[in-house]
Amino acid sequence: MSTCQQTSRVWALAFAAAGSLLVPAIASAQAATAAKTPTFAKDVAPILQRSCVTCHRAGESAPMSLMTYEEARPWARSIKSRTTAREMPPYHIDKSIGITKFKNDPSLSDEEIQTIAKWVDGGAPRGNAADMPAPRTFKDSGAWDFEPDIVVKFPPYKVPASGPDLYGNIYADIPIKTDRYIQAIQTRAGTPASRKVVHHALTYAVADPDSMEVSGDDSAGVDGGDFLVEYASGKNAEVYTGDSGVPLQAGKKAMVSYHLHSVGEEVDAYIEVAMKLHPEGYTPKHIRWSKQLAQSTAELDIPGNSVVRIDGYTVMHKNARILSFQPHMHIRGKRQCLELIYPTGGSAARSEMISCTNFNYNWHINYTYADEVAPIVPAGTILHVITWHDNSQANRANPDPKNWVGDGQRTIDEMGFAWIGWYDLTDEEYKEQLAARKAEREKKTRTTQQQQQQGQQ
Ligand code: HEC
Repeated sequence: MSTCQQTSRVWALAFAAAGSLLVPAIASAQAATAAKTPTFAKDVAPILQRSCVTCHRAGESAPMSLMTYEEARPWARSIKSRTTAREMPPYHIDKSIGITKFKNDPSLSDEEIQTIAKWVDGGAPRGNAADMPAPRTFKDSGAWDFEPDIVVKFPPYKVPASGPDLYGNIYADIPIKTDRYIQAIQTRAGTPASRKVVHHALTYAVADPDSMEVSGDDSAGVDGGDFLVEYASGKNAEVYTGDSGVPLQAGKKAMVSYHLHSVGEEVDAYIEVAMKLHPEGYTPKHIRWSKQLAQSTAELDIPGNSVVRIDGYTVMHKNARILSFQPHMHIRGKRQCLELIYPTGGSAARSEMISCTNFNYNWHINYTYADEVAPIVPAGTILHVITWHDNSQANRANPDPKNWVGDGQRTIDEMGFAWIGWYDLTDEEYKEQLAARKAEREKKTRTTQQQQQQGQQ
């Protein structure tokens, strides 16, 4: 008899001595653990399909595909760490502060993050093939966040392997026959190589291309053009909520004001802008504005190995509904918060932190507030934007923590302001919107109370 068999007999005796109930108890506990380990097919694939594969599939921006078990399995540990750190999907708003509901929010719930972690810790099992959801299908090989009505494709621009940063304008036709209103808009660098060289791109509709001047300034507008949308790496779509739109006149040309930089190989930069339009002949109730606001008046002064905070303020001169918030910084950017300081005077003054978001230069995310929570603010409200730059080693994106950094256009210089999307409200509209918001809230409270009462019965 081998030692092993002897040992097992000793164990068997021990169980027998402890009573016959013990064996089934252990077996069922093991079965319960096995049942609790989420599987790829049943639990994880639906999460990846909803929040990851728009980018994580062949030909898209992400470095690997997560469409199948075979593709995802080797990345299991990395998937757990990136989702737990809330770095993936790239949506970095801090849900523990202020407004927590957004349009087209791909971020994972705490529960989904846990499911992924448990799947990985449990050995990342495939599960039952029959549980696998049908693969998500995409019409276009490039991911737009919405179904576009028109796509404006600018002619390619050759960026040399090395040289100074490049600024200028490129033009293209806008394929519309009558005046229209934009409902959603998104810019993308059309190829994986282009994504590396396009630092920034601002799109305008212009009447006369010959009269346009290039300022070379990311942070400045262009006179004489209707500003449409800004782009920087990882930018998602802008969606104009609440029956609003941006006018687009037939006969104007699209102009992209670009800022490109060399990356060590020659690259053709392709820039494309997709738009979803309101139906022909339809005029939305509100014109949606988008501006870079609350830039600090103090000059940026960020010594090596330091973290620096700046504060900027903009007064809203009209009543407004704030639709979206998007921080803008460069590679030392760490975090940005938006606070509203209301104009109610004296000791009744009130302020409210509505959004804070972590920042990563790879990801310029436009956070669009859900309809039921978009701030409705009175004239005189101050937007207070707080920006933190981290020029220390702790910032993994920092190329050189020894260097002083100040204001500037280059990727290695810094900026700190917010893109704010909003529309103006007349006094009457302001009152109406506030009343409607109040009614919605009361209705919700009543429903919750009713549900609670029913639950108690
Ligand atoms: C908007 C596009 C996009 C979405 C959505 C997205 N990713 Fe990513 N992901 C990227 C890009 C681009 C990179 C590489 C650059 C970076 O790391 O930021 C990346 C990197 C990663 C990495 C690191 C890969 C490596 O090289 O180590 C993991 C893991 C990952 N993503 C998982 C996910 C998961 C899981 C989801 C969904 C829950 C997701 N991503 C959603 C675009 C995306």
